[in-house]
Amino acid sequence: MKIINIVGTRPNFMKVAALMRAYRAWPSIQPVLVHTGQHYDERMSDLFFRQLGIPEPDINLGVGSGSHACQTAEVMRAFEPVLLTEEPQAVLVVGDVNSTIACGLVAAKLGVKVVHVEAGLRSFDRSMPEEINRVLTDAISDLLFCTEPSGVENLRHEGIAQDKIFLVGNVMIDTLLAHRERAQASPILEQTGVSPRGYAVLTLHRPSNVDDPAVLSGFADAIDVIQKDLPVVFPMHPRTRKNLQDTPLGQRLAGMKNLRLLDPVGYLDFLKLMCWAKVVLTDSGGIQEETTILRVPCLTLRENTERPITTQKGSNQLVGCKPQNIVAAYQRVMSDGDGHGDIPELWDGHAAERIVKIMSEKL
Ligand code: UD1
Ligand code: UDP
Repeated sequence: MKIINIVGTRPNFMKVAALMRAYRAWPSIQPVLVHTGQHYDERMSDLFFRQLGIPEPDINLGVGSGSHACQTAEVMRAFEPVLLTEEPQAVLVVGDVNSTIACGLVAAKLGVKVVHVEAGLRSFDRSMPEEINRVLTDAISDLLFCTEPSGVENLRHEGIAQDKIFLVGNVMIDTLLAHRERAQASPILEQTGVSPRGYAVLTLHRPSNVDDPAVLSGFADAIDVIQKDLPVVFPMHPRTRKNLQDTPLGQRLAGMKNLRLLDPVGYLDFLKLMCWAKVVLTDSGGIQEETTILRVPCLTLRENTERPITTQKGSNQLVGCKPQNIVAAYQRVMSDGDGHGDIPELWDGHAAERIVKIMSEKL
């Protein structure tokens, strides 16, 4: 049985790494790895293949950046001939990026089964491009693998047949647990001049947060207050870097004495940074989950989350985008101490094995 697995962006690599490892126990399955090329910088792509031991992609569509319509259309155009040549039994897509819906749609139209890993998550905010990708991908999927109970519930409400939905746990957490020890050898703390529990980590890349200079400027106000109290390590996403390049706001951030502005860092470095942070501030989806497992306080700089389990059980708090609220939440974390939250059901390092077993039975 041939299964084509799609990766395109940074958060896809951790997810597919766990699946590629799990396939090894199933010689009857032939996995094919297709990289759409949505992310292409060394530090947004190749580095993860090396660090996570992901096999070289069998095919790279080399699509690159573009508007939503152009990028999605380019992936579809490049993927269709691959699908026609390879004739797989299924196409497996992960997450909620443009590559996810583009490849899922090509497969569904050619009558090839679509498998969605990380199905059912909903922010209920249709202004997020990812929310559109999630709803559409789930609507055309044949097997839907959920990370948390809210995902199952959302799919039921949308009328997806019960026998297509499986609560299996979280493949991103499989990869985290497999690399947690190895990450401790990373020299990133020394390189950035910070000490264990003596710094905050920040990531920002949502268009709603970084494409509008007024919103970004509000974050700068909050960061300025926080970095005066605690060093802040900020590996910057290329979207954010592009928006700050040669701007007064970029110069303002560069002038903050305790703010460590970095290029995006590799997985092991980032995992080490999260492990030893006093607090993580982020608008990332995956990082809300990773800090939950690590029990590190996470302040999510968004008004909503598609991952409610991380706030109900885990160490995550939604704090929104207003500078005064961010600073107030930071101060609460600093006075509360460490070690918050519980681990969600089935986030045990074996989600990928469950997925591959179910695929071998159902496809
Ligand atoms: C994409 C996903 C988002 C995900 C994020 C993970 C969509 C709609 N968005 O957002 O859900 O959370 O990836 O990181 O799929 N760029 C580079 N080098 C790269 C990649 C991008 O310089 O290797 C720059 C380009 O200027 C590009 C911009 O970043 O235009 C945005 O890239 P894009 O893939 O369109 O969206 P992301 O913001 O990365
Ligand atoms: N990450 C990384 N280096 C960084 C920032 C993040 O390796 O400099 C990892 C992080 O640990 C997580 C994933 O990238 O596994 C999250 O990706 P991102 O925030 O880009 O996407 P999202 O999860 O929001 O879709």
